[in-house]
Amino acid sequence: MPAVSLDNVTKIYGGDTVALRDVSFEIPEGEFVVLLGPSGAGKSTMLRVLNGLTQPTEGEVIIDQEPVHDERSEVGMVFQMHYLIESMSAFRNALTGALSRSNFAQSALTMYPEEDKRAALDALDTVGLLDEAGQRAGSMSGGQKQRVGIARALVQQPDLLLADEPVSSLDPKAAKDVMRYMKEAAKERNLTTIASLHQVNIAREFGDRFLGVRDGELIFDGDREDLTMDVVDQIYYGEDGKEQAEDLATTAPDRGEDDE
Ligand SMILES: Nc1ncnc2c1ncn2[C@@H]1O[C@H](COP(=O)(O)OP(=O)(O)O)[C@@H](O)[C@H]1O
Ligand SMILES: [Mg+2]
Repeated sequence: MPAVSLDNVTKIYGGDTVALRDVSFEIPEGEFVVLLGPSGAGKSTMLRVLNGLTQPTEGEVIIDQEPVHDERSEVGMVFQMHYLIESMSAFRNALTGALSRSNFAQSALTMYPEEDKRAALDALDTVGLLDEAGQRAGSMSGGQKQRVGIARALVQQPDLLLADEPVSSLDPKAAKDVMRYMKEAAKERNLTTIASLHQVNIAREFGDRFLGVRDGELIFDGDREDLTMDVVDQIYYGEDGKEQAEDLATTAPDRGEDDE
């Protein structure tokens, strides 16, 4: 039984911007999926329809056999910008992930049950930050902040983890670290994960499966072996852009190895 599926999903903004065009796929529980595509391809829109933040114009999103109609608290999100409260500790930030589950009175008073506190420490442990739990988020490195962001999403006890370019603002080493922790967290909890990434080498290292979007269309769905350099060129440069890609390759030999 697939944990997540998109069924002929089309999303049109403002009557004429087709952000997703008849996209369908099924993702079984626990799979770690990487979403690839140039800017404007529709990656963020795909993640937003999965979270219920955006309604498809046509088609249906199904998570755990139920159609998604509004924002779901069972979906954890990690963004390029970490959105942490910099003056609070890593622990406090991770704890805020429990807010969506706690009742309003508790949230208002920010009194968290013991189990939430345990969940926050457990999640910080998962992302390798248990020793830094008391550290102010504002004093942490970019990679550590993203790991706190992942911990916060884990505290939500999501059944789906979505990450929209979680490592785009990090240097390659920090980016790899963050992806390693995200993957471990997902495997440990059998958490279905979809992460959009621009760094093809990092994508290749961590993805179990790859979805390629271009101009709102799903043009590739396959595993690591299927994701050849030709396929990557097609995703980023299009059918006609291959020559252009080859030209670029001669002037930029590390194309696809680092940030875009
Ligand atoms: N809220 C919005 N209103 C109108 N157009 C949007 C909106 N969000 C995205 N778009 C458009 O939809 C297309 C896909 O955007 P997006 O999903 O953000 O792509 P990506 O995340 O791959 O860069 C782009 O043409 C973008 O300009
Ligand atoms: Mg985007």
